[in-house]
Amino acid sequence: MFASSLLYGLLAAATANAYSHVKHINYSVVPGVFQQSENTTNATGFDFIAANFGLINRTYSSDSSCPGRRPFTQWQLLAHYISTLNKEAPRNERYSVLFMGRHGEGFHNVAESYFGTPAWNCYWSELDGNGTVTWADAKLTDGGVKQAARVKDFWAHLIKDEEITPPETYYTSPMYRCLDTAKLTFTGLDLPRKSPFVPIIKEFLREGISAHTCDRRSTRSYIAQNFPGFKFEQGFPEEDPYWTELFAEPRANQDARSKTVLDDIFSSDDSTYISITSHSGEIGSLLRVLNHRAFSLSTGAAIPVLVKITTLSGEGPPTSTLPYAPQKTCAVPPTIRDSSCNDCSCCT
Ligand SMILES: *[C@@H]1O[C@H](CO)[C@@H](O)[C@H](O)[C@H]1NC(C)=O
Ligand SMILES: *[C@@H]1O[C@H](CO)[C@@H](O)[C@H](O)[C@H]1NC(C)=O
Ligand SMILES: *[C@@H]1O[C@H](CO)[C@@H](O)[C@H](O)[C@H]1NC(C)=O
Ligand SMILES: *[C@@H]1O[C@H](CO)[C@@H](O)[C@H](O)[C@H]1NC(C)=O
Ligand SMILES: *[C@@H]1O[C@H](CO)[C@@H](O)[C@H](O)[C@H]1NC(C)=O
Repeated sequence: MFASSLLYGLLAAATANAYSHVKHINYSVVPGVFQQSENTTNATGFDFIAANFGLINRTYSSDSSCPGRRPFTQWQLLAHYISTLNKEAPRNERYSVLFMGRHGEGFHNVAESYFGTPAWNCYWSELDGNGTVTWADAKLTDGGVKQAARVKDFWAHLIKDEEITPPETYYTSPMYRCLDTAKLTFTGLDLPRKSPFVPIIKEFLREGISAHTCDRRSTRSYIAQNFPGFKFEQGFPEEDPYWTELFAEPRANQDARSKTVLDDIFSSDDSTYISITSHSGEIGSLLRVLNHRAFSLSTGAAIPVLVKITTLSGEGPPTSTLPYAPQKTCAVPPTIRDSSCNDCSCCT
C-alpha cells in the first residue's frame, strides 16, 4: 500500500515535472560551410548555381572516416560531416540543412517595375489587377517558370554529378507563386524512393502581410484543386485568416511567426535535409530567426543554411507582437517614380 502510493506519487511528480518543464529552441548557423553565411560574401549578384550552392571547398575533421568509394564530392564529405556532428551531439542538439528557395518572378514583381514603386505601393498593389494582368495571389510569369526550370536542372546536376543528399521533406508557402515554383522545381527529379516530393503547405511560410493583394492567399479548396498531391498542415483553414484590407503585419509579428513555424518543423520532423519554398521578405525573416546574416535573394534564387538547433530549458527571450498597422493609399496613382514615397506622402 505504502510502496504503491509512494510509487504513484513519484510517477505523478515526474509527469508533472515533464509537463511543467518549459523549453525553447535556439538556432545558430555553423560558419565556414556555405559562402552565404560568411561576412565577406557579397549577396548582390551572387550566383548560387555557378557557385555549387555556395558550398565551400574544404576538409572536415570527419573526412578520414567517410564511407564509400573515393574520390568523394564535397557534398558527400559534407553529408558525412553532418551525420558525424549529429551522432556526437548531446541530446538537446541537432544539425540540419535548410534549402530555402524564393519563388520565380510573379506578375506582381513585373507590375511593380512597370508602374514604379510609389504608384505600385500607394495605388495599384491594393487592386487585384489592372484588367489585363492579375496580381492578387500572383502567378508566375513565363520568366518565373523558366527560373524554376533552371533551378530544377541545377538540382538534377547536384543529384547526378555532385552526389548531394536531396531534401527529405518539403515545405512551402501557400501562395500560388511558391506552390508552382516548388512543383516545377522538384517534380520529375530522380529523388530517393524514401523521400519523394510531397510538400506540406504551411501558412506561416507566407510573405510578410501588407495591404498588397499579392499577399492574400487563395482558398484551401482552390489550392487543393490546382496542386493535387500537396498536403496541408493540420488546421489549415478554407479562407485566409490573416490578410486584412489596408492593414499590414508588423515585422515583429512576422519574426514571431517565423520562429513558430521553424519550431513547429523541428519539433515534428527529424529530417536533416529540408526544403522550404517561400518569399524574399519571409526568407529574410527566417534568416533573422536562425541568427544568420542578412542575405537577400533575387526571384528564383535559393540559399542553403547549416543550422545548429539547440533545445534549452526555460522560457526563450520574450517576443512582443503588435496590432496590424493601418496603411495609407492614394485615391489616384502618384506620378512620381522614385521610391522616395513609401509612406504615400506623394498623393496628388
Ligand atoms: C542563441 O544563439 C545565438 C547565436 O549563436 C546566440 O547569439 C544567442 O545568445 C542564443 N540565445 C540564447 C537564448 O541562448
Ligand atoms: C561578421 O559580422 C558580424 C556582424 O557585423 C560580426 O559580429 C562578426 O564579428 C563578423 N565576423 C567576421 C569573421 O568578420
Ligand atoms: C556587391 O556587389 C555589387 C554588384 O557587383 C557592387 O555594386 C557592390 O559595391 C558590392 N558591395 C560590396 C560591399 O562590395
Ligand atoms: C571546388 O572544387 C571543385 C572540384 O574540385 C572545382 O571544380 C571548383 O572550381 C572549386 N571551387 C572553388 C571556388 O575553388
Ligand atoms: C497592366 O499592367 C501590366 C504590367 O503589369 C502592363 O503590361 C499592361 O500594359 C497594363 N494594362 C493596361 C491596360 O494598362
